[in-house]
Amino acid sequence: MQTTFRGLLKHLDDQRLLRHVSRPVDPTHQLVAVMRKVQKTTNEPLLFEHVTGSPAAVATNILCRRGILADALGLETRSLVPSLVAKEGQAMPYETVADAPVHEIVKTDGFDIARDIPQVVHCERDGGAYISAGVCIARHPDTGEYNASWNRVQLVGGDHTRIRMMPPQHLGQYQEAAERHSKALPVAIVIGAPPALMLSAASKIPIDADELQVASAWQGTPLRMVAAKTVPLLVPADAEFVIEGEVLPDLREVEGPFGEFTDAYAEAAPNHVMRVTAITRRKDAIYHVILAGGPEDSVLLGVPLQAEVYKRVAAFAPIRDVATPGHIFGCVVSIEKSNDDQARAVMLAAMAAHPWMKVVVVVDADVDPHDTNEVLWAIHTRNTPETGVYVIPRLGSFQRADVRAAHRGKVGIDATAPMAMRDVFKRRRFPGIDELNLDDFLDPLTGSAH
Ligand SMILES: Cc1cc2nc3c(=O)[nH]c(=O)nc-3n(C[C@H](O)[C@H](O)[C@H](O)COP(=O)(O)O)c2cc1C
Repeated sequence: MQTTFRGLLKHLDDQRLLRHVSRPVDPTHQLVAVMRKVQKTTNEPLLFEHVTGSPAAVATNILCRRGILADALGLETRSLVPSLVAKEGQAMPYETVADAPVHEIVKTDGFDIARDIPQVVHCERDGGAYISAGVCIARHPDTGEYNASWNRVQLVGGDHTRIRMMPPQHLGQYQEAAERHSKALPVAIVIGAPPALMLSAASKIPIDADELQVASAWQGTPLRMVAAKTVPLLVPADAEFVIEGEVLPDLREVEGPFGEFTDAYAEAAPNHVMRVTAITRRKDAIYHVILAGGPEDSVLLGVPLQAEVYKRVAAFAPIRDVATPGHIFGCVVSIEKSNDDQARAVMLAAMAAHPWMKVVVVVDADVDPHDTNEVLWAIHTRNTPETGVYVIPRLGSFQRADVRAAHRGKVGIDATAPMAMRDVFKRRRFPGIDELNLDDFLDPLTGSAH
């Protein structure tokens, strides 16, 4: 169980899973280019030790595999989703401490967001440097309930930033409530947050539940919180950076463009303005960067979606697992079916579980739903296109205004073998393969065969 971001980095390092980059890299494009190439090849967590002009080292691609998230939460990878569903609804009070590592350096004036925070520019057309891995903590102005959510922050300069938020996201609702009273909404952007908080910030937790208490329950021990310096909020004591500030009422500025999780750009559009009131950090703070749509983003957004689907489909068939390979606008559900109707029921329930579930594939329990090749194999060999593909019209999925029209309707693919042909579709087995060690058979590569 890892309760801090740096604890997780050390744990990965101890397991030889964290790749260090000691060569200096440029925060404008080069850092993300290296990250992207790693994501497309070996997909390893990375620590950039020297980022040119940067006040901190940069960690990225940390939760790049479900297994790393499961391990950080002290859970088994193969039962991650049911374990999280079982823990849902639990809440554990957090603890408030007086002294905090994140307050080793406190700047309440004389700071500059364009100097005191690493200026990482992600994609070619991005509107400048962004905080891409900030968990935003806020309290509902009327109820005082805590919310945590991920929000990108465009770094303008001085105390001036722009933050991407809107209803129905809970932070957007909080801001609307504050704006109704013409009040600013106090916020704290946490960088290098506890892993359980990173997950609860990405999860759709009911608006009246306290996400700090949910994160405490998920990590099995109270979050260590400390009073922020300039806003009436508690922030994680062991975080790497906290940027305190307020979202101003009745003010919008053009934010963006930004390379989004669809691998295309969200164009520049009016968004909220956040005035920074303090920057606090550890002395040797490590800055966290997440590429929207990269493996780490897909794990953080995918696992909560898988849990939403799991809850809806579990009534219809025994479930091996739910996966979101490729992109989170669809899912694959692996089921142990005992009649053919179950696959269709699961498909419809998965589509209804979340608007984003645009393409749903149902496979048998002998198919790993996380393995894209296996899923395509099941579609190619087991689906009957004439009867096993369902297009459900007049249902929306992704709602961003500029692309909404392209996300109309849903598709379901039943890639399970028909019950009547079970025996014909039974997969081959290769006796001895599981116990076999290839090094006992293959000669080492010497390049001296000729
Ligand atoms: C790395 C990352 C960045 C995200 N950036 C944004 C963002 O800029 N704006 C937004 O509305 N949602 C963003 N999200 C999605 C929200 O965090 C997610 O919808 C969350 O469930 C919102 O929680 P809440 O409505 O329960 O508070 C991001 C998610 C991740 C993992």
